[in-house]
Amino acid sequence: MKKVFLFIASAAVLAACGGPLSPQDKLTVNDKKINAIIAQMTLEEKVNMLHSKTNMSSAGVERLGIADMNYADGPFGIREEGVPNGFQSAGWTLDSATYFPTGSALAATWSEELAYKYGSGMGKEARLRGKDVILGPAVNIQRLPVGGRTYEYLSEDPILSAALALEYTKGCQDEGTAVCIKHFAVNNQETNRGSVDAQLDERTLREIYLKPFERAIVEGGAMSVMPAYNKVNGDYCSENEHLLNEILRGEWGFKGFTVSDWGGTHSTMGAMLHGLNVQMTGSNYLGQPVIDSIATGALTEDLVDEKVRQILRVRYAIEPVPADVANTVMTSQPECQDIALQVAQKSIVLLKNEGILPVSKDVKKIAVIGQNAVLKTQSGGMGAGVKALYEVTPLQGIQKRAAEAGVEICYAPGYKNFPGRRWGPAPAKANPLEASAIDEPADPALLAEAVALAKEADLVIFFGGTNKSIETEGSDRKDIKLPCGQEELVQALYAANANLATVLISGGPTDLQVLEPASPAIVQGWWNGTEGGTALAQVLFGDIAPSGKLPFTFPKQLEDSPAFAMGNFPDKNAGGDLFSLLYRPDVLKMSREERQKLIDAMPKPVSKYTERFYVGYRWFDTKNVEPMYAFGHGLSYVNFAYGEAKAVASKDAVKVTFTLKNEGGMPADEVVQLYVSRPEAKVEWPVKELKAFQRVSLAAGETKTVTLTVPVKDLRYWNETVNAWDLEHGKLQILVGSASDDIRVKTDVTI
Ligand code: BGC
Repeated sequence: MKKVFLFIASAAVLAACGGPLSPQDKLTVNDKKINAIIAQMTLEEKVNMLHSKTNMSSAGVERLGIADMNYADGPFGIREEGVPNGFQSAGWTLDSATYFPTGSALAATWSEELAYKYGSGMGKEARLRGKDVILGPAVNIQRLPVGGRTYEYLSEDPILSAALALEYTKGCQDEGTAVCIKHFAVNNQETNRGSVDAQLDERTLREIYLKPFERAIVEGGAMSVMPAYNKVNGDYCSENEHLLNEILRGEWGFKGFTVSDWGGTHSTMGAMLHGLNVQMTGSNYLGQPVIDSIATGALTEDLVDEKVRQILRVRYAIEPVPADVANTVMTSQPECQDIALQVAQKSIVLLKNEGILPVSKDVKKIAVIGQNAVLKTQSGGMGAGVKALYEVTPLQGIQKRAAEAGVEICYAPGYKNFPGRRWGPAPAKANPLEASAIDEPADPALLAEAVALAKEADLVIFFGGTNKSIETEGSDRKDIKLPCGQEELVQALYAANANLATVLISGGPTDLQVLEPASPAIVQGWWNGTEGGTALAQVLFGDIAPSGKLPFTFPKQLEDSPAFAMGNFPDKNAGGDLFSLLYRPDVLKMSREERQKLIDAMPKPVSKYTERFYVGYRWFDTKNVEPMYAFGHGLSYVNFAYGEAKAVASKDAVKVTFTLKNEGGMPADEVVQLYVSRPEAKVEWPVKELKAFQRVSLAAGETKTVTLTVPVKDLRYWNETVNAWDLEHGKLQILVGSASDDIRVKTDVTI
């Protein structure tokens, strides 16, 4: 731990008397001092802390030496400084930050160690910018392949998401920056995100959608939480008694504060009574109306005190950065750029390889085709983005590495990137003429130029995928088809030169039915941060073996995936995005009554989660639907041999031990995955579920003994009859392997 939290000394005293404090209870060690300060505050000063001060801060009390709370977006780099009252650039020069690989790329590393480093990099750069809280990590489950924020989120699996969310949280908070874990909860679509009611059963909520939050909060001590825009089972997340008061505070013992998503507060009484601390942004609900409600007796000042106490606990746990220290050096730091490189190196997934990769020594000329090879992905679309100090594009990375190897590179764009196809309305700035162009066939002139280059080259590397206006906050993709005529283009390239590898630059999955037969090698290259191009070139040229594994399923077609197969998405009766309505200039000028009338008259979109806990591979496996590439899939340049597995169960854990050998001639990492199946169960379960994993590094020819541990608590299910976690005793089949569809060894154990 680098920064000394102010409460550490008193925590040590308490720990000495009554055993170690839980990560959340550590936040309460200053409560006495905090209560004394609250006693000195006027009601106005207290209420002033319950809403935004600027677009990215909430107020302290200067008179009492309480600093403002400064927030920074998250989740994959400290966002450029904005003007006080908006997201527009403040025009600073020292605010270029490190662009870390986005969420799905981090998850593809399956590395808890890297998630910790990633969080610490974010925490470190936040301090340099004078920020107290980062708005991240973003840990919602990737339920829909088309989800606009799939790239920000981690995985379709709760165990993987939870492990990485926990380490990110610890890494960041160990640097003295609080996380604000988001978006709590069941925020799985952008369509009607401001008004949609996610309707799901309690078992699915607990086992799938809450898991990543639970671990980061309970085990990691996440200090703040961002309730999501949507409703869950009827109530907005920012005033959801079940989520915020019963589960978060009641069951998980959360002691910090909640901050609504920007524009996601909906009422004074709802927010005050049901668990919100800070309205972001504005004060129309948690400003003067709170004071008025106390005057009428509808609310008590004690409740305000409680909310202020929860905010102050974090304020006292996080040392404010003095104004003359903040922003004196460039935000992006070499050590963080190095973390970004390490993550990128281990995130790249080799989906298919028919002897094309790594680039053979015989290759003297490579044709790099596709605009995604030169596309910068640090920002674009709507929402999270970074003003990166630098960003190595795939083409730049390849050019540099090829020059070292004496290989000639030529490049043609092949297609032009266009704004995306969307379920919701396209952003105001998009050119309506261009907006349809992504569905059009390939441009004949660009195609001809690319094919001519392909014919002359020894190897073609085609860069396909999406872009940041196709996958973006604020709207979901209409489908997962490759845009901009890429399918026609790759077929023409393959016909011209069958020595072809495709690199997909995207945050989410794409439909590869046409591309796959025309690509002897396929790599998922992600939106991979400041050093993305460097890492990609290292993998393509065989300096390092690829070791990323898919954190989500690539369906063959969208219709195969659970929410689509069940007819749950898109919602046929949906309509009306409350979020965009509230921010319409004419609506902003309306009186509260007029606005409420409009809101009441809006359609009430609903998203039914009747696929239940059959999310991602749980669905594909159980329903016997073959995916294009399965969850956990990822090839290497070497083979790994798995020895026999032995499982031992104790009261608290199942431990599974086996040997793993790198049979190849180069160092390589394997991500070993442990799934549990329950052939004799009475309770309904998916065919198998991930329960443990580990990234193992092996030198050429090396063998290691690997032990995977499954805590028994992770084997429980949410029993809806008794409304509690329950353990079904009996036989478990343990499946250990290299992917969810590549199980190498099996054993049994009884719990
Ligand atoms: C996003 C949040 C983000 C916030 C502030 C919202 O639109 O949903 O993830 O942190 O804006 O930028």
